[in-house]
Amino acid sequence: MPFNILFFALVLFYFLYGDLRWKPKEECACNPVLFFCIVSMQRSGSGWFETFLNSHINVSSNGEIFSVGKRRANVSSILETMDRVYNLDWFSSASKNECTAAVGFKWMLNQGLVEHHEEIVEYFERRRVSVIFLFRRNLLRRMISVLANSYDKDAKPLNGTHKSHVHSAVEANILAKYRPRLNITLLIPELNQTKETAAKAIAYFKNTRHIVLYYEDLVNNRTKLKDVQEFLRVPYRDLESRQVKIHTAALSKQIENWNEVQEALTGTPYQRFLFKD
Ligand SMILES: *[C@@H]1O[C@H](CO)[C@@H](O)[C@H](O)[C@H]1NC(C)=O
Ligand SMILES: *[C@@H]1O[C@H](CO)[C@@H](O)[C@H](O)[C@H]1NC(C)=O
Ligand SMILES: *[C@@H]1O[C@H](CO)[C@@H](O)[C@H](O)[C@H]1NC(C)=O
Ligand SMILES: *[C@@H]1O[C@H](CO)[C@@H](O)[C@H](O)[C@H]1NC(C)=O
Ligand SMILES: *[C@@H]1O[C@H](CO)[C@@H](O)[C@H](O)[C@H]1NC(C)=O
Ligand SMILES: *[C@@H]1O[C@H](CO)[C@@H](O)[C@H](O)[C@H]1NC(C)=O
Repeated sequence: MPFNILFFALVLFYFLYGDLRWKPKEECACNPVLFFCIVSMQRSGSGWFETFLNSHINVSSNGEIFSVGKRRANVSSILETMDRVYNLDWFSSASKNECTAAVGFKWMLNQGLVEHHEEIVEYFERRRVSVIFLFRRNLLRRMISVLANSYDKDAKPLNGTHKSHVHSAVEANILAKYRPRLNITLLIPELNQTKETAAKAIAYFKNTRHIVLYYEDLVNNRTKLKDVQEFLRVPYRDLESRQVKIHTAALSKQIENWNEVQEALTGTPYQRFLFKD
């Protein structure tokens, strides 16, 4: 009967087509999955932010996958790595048994992203990847965090273990005891460069669906996480993170040559960094 053949053809087509577009997990067939990428810089709160996202049962954010050098050795390995994530073939501790409605990873600008931005913009367009930019407003505080984290790599005051993130106030206090001395000659050029790098990245992806978040805003206003969930098109939930902020004191208490830093920044566009959290 031609009708039967037509029917089977339709079923077969639907099956194949459905499978190409979505890889539904068990009971939740046909959920569309939103692809995202968190674009950030080191010490800008992206690890903390990602723990919030992964506390959502329908979100899988697979970590800093391009911290591994060979995955970003050239454009083809970058694209292959992303294909694995967005074909839902990437398994990490963030993988969920639940229905995933949004899947992604986080990517630091200096991990091949700026270098290969043209191909990456094209890829994001083709696979409809949405970008979450996460930057810090206070780049001086970020600088302290970068220096302290790199000091910790060698000194390891927490029982000989290097920790970039901590889960208790006791640990945070120990890490915050280190007060770096800033190189005044490099101070403004480095702040300039960081600011420009972030601005350039946003410009590269201006035509990609994106949202720009600032760490300080998330710290001060957890309702921002609602915007994020809307952006990711996932059902709204209260998200949580067990990470504890390391540097909470006034900046004057965290920089060894505070007076010099203060003097160097006063009267420049970066003066506000001296006072703002
Ligand atoms: C890209 O890098 C990978 C991993 O290092 C390597 O195996 C591959 O041959 C490289 N491909 C090209 C086209 O250079
Ligand atoms: C979220 O996960 C739950 C549990 O697996 C599932 O019932 C629900 O349909 C999922 N929601 C979305 C939007 O994927
Ligand atoms: C170091 O290890 C000891 C013993 O396991 C533990 O009691 C202590 O809290 C640890 N200290 C830090 C700073 O993690
Ligand atoms: C600051 O950095 C510059 C350039 O790397 C270097 O020449 C200079 O010695 C440094 N100054 C101090 C006080 O470390
Ligand atoms: C920093 O950038 C500003 C403009 O953005 C420029 O006028 C200034 O010369 C730069 N300073 C240094 C030290 O690079
Ligand atoms: C907190 O964030 C929400 C969502 O972006 C916003 O609507 C609200 O105005 C913010 N509240 C404050 C006090 O900034």
